[in-house]
Amino acid sequence: MLRGALGGNVLRVAILSSEAVPFAKTGGLGDVAGALPKALRETGGDVDTVLVHPLYEETDRRLLREMVFDNLAVDWLGGTRRVNVWYSDAPRAPTFLIDAPEYFARPGIYGYRDDHERFAFFCRASLALLERVGGPPDVVHGNDWPCGFAAAELRSRRNHDPYYARTRTLFSIHNLAYQGAFDAGELWRLGFESHDERDYFMADGVASALKAGLLASDALSTVSRRYAEEIQTPEHGHGLDWLLRMRRDRLIGITNGVDYGVWNPATDPHLASHFNAENLEGKRHCKLDLLRRYGLPEDLDRPIIASISRLTPQKGFDLVREAAGAMIETGAFFVSLGSGESEYEDFLQTMRDDAPHRVGVFRGFNEALSHQIEAGADIFLMPSRYEPCGLNQMYSMRYGTVPVVRATGGLDDTVENYDRTRGTGNGFKFARYSAAAMLESLYEALYCYNEPEVWRTIQLSGMHADNSWQAAARRYVEVYRIVTGL
Ligand code: ADP
Ligand code: GLC
Repeated sequence: MLRGALGGNVLRVAILSSEAVPFAKTGGLGDVAGALPKALRETGGDVDTVLVHPLYEETDRRLLREMVFDNLAVDWLGGTRRVNVWYSDAPRAPTFLIDAPEYFARPGIYGYRDDHERFAFFCRASLALLERVGGPPDVVHGNDWPCGFAAAELRSRRNHDPYYARTRTLFSIHNLAYQGAFDAGELWRLGFESHDERDYFMADGVASALKAGLLASDALSTVSRRYAEEIQTPEHGHGLDWLLRMRRDRLIGITNGVDYGVWNPATDPHLASHFNAENLEGKRHCKLDLLRRYGLPEDLDRPIIASISRLTPQKGFDLVREAAGAMIETGAFFVSLGSGESEYEDFLQTMRDDAPHRVGVFRGFNEALSHQIEAGADIFLMPSRYEPCGLNQMYSMRYGTVPVVRATGGLDDTVENYDRTRGTGNGFKFARYSAAAMLESLYEALYCYNEPEVWRTIQLSGMHADNSWQAAARRYVEVYRIVTGL
């Protein structure tokens, strides 16, 4: 089984990720890393993919099929550390889970002082594992800063370790703002001792795992075309735009897809009622169900504006704060699901306290509710300051919920502004990062909501949009082939 997992005359790809559905998720990376391995396998059979992932406390043990290594030896902190490795095919693709309790059996995924050490270990153990499963991978595909360590290590091992001499690396940027910075004194302890290795990591006097991924990888990708351009500018480059400009010929934007096996209103197990583009009747039941869940009046004709989001500065909540009064005055409901920085959590709570019959707030992470919101809401608001891709606008479209978004990154690439004269478009977009611009788009959406035929046209245009993984998976395969020359 293991030999088959990475063997034969096909392109062998190992995807490393710190989160992947159904094992762990804090945001879109979890959705993407859960869906891509499966999508790659469905492109036509010439790519053999495995996913490597940490075994967290929150990972459901029922997903594990068997322990495939006990006591796998990993060179670590000057000695040898032994770990167990589990196998699962829960995401319909072979997955290995690294079981290192002192690093991963903790509540949550990120946010610990030793995160750099935890994910450096994950990378080191992943590479030790890949030496034991049927020949070297052609490509190691890492995601975001936690995988930057693997890129650096593979780059140096290429020169002196015949096993990894031909392995090439792709590094995907899902969010440039998270850089995995740590004290440069730690590099030596983690086993990155050479001058070159130090060079991969060093950025403005600190070590950055993200920078190592960007500099040491053979190819770079990010999750939309627009974001691939934006990160080359000082405005969106988070101090690394120079490096991305320097490597621009190695950088490609591939827009994420939607896993319609998971996000489909006709089959979604979380919904009170099902619906599709031919029959939207069930959406009204979902709306009623949503109003009840939030304890709001059962007024089905009043539009619901919704948000599901990590509450960070990225997501544009200062615009919502500034526009809160005006949003409530429109008469619409506003429901939100999310957790994060306390200033945003507090403001949303205040918004609810000020208008308890109009506003519903759920603080926390709730997968089922996220599906129920997509199905029951009318308008989905994403006023992001920046957005590498964004998935909820695409989920919304499939659920007949019309997105109102800021034209940035993947939001700009995937949402087409409604054009009244031509009758085209699947949502509403505004360009300027201002509360006034956001409100203007919201007013336009609410105006259209009151014209049922117009609204139906916009809903259907979104529901029929094809944002499936197929096209994206094919482009990843192209990149793997280019980078390996295979
Ligand atoms: P990001 O990765 O920046 O958070 P995306 O739009 O790419 O943004 O993906 C967010 C993903 O996380 C979506 O699947 C969304 O439904 C989910 N999500 C975000 N916040 C929550 C929450 N509080 N509860 C459940 N799901 C959430
Ligand atoms: C990041 C980005 C988001 C993107 C997701 C998956 O978390 O913030 O825009 O959709 O990764 O690629």
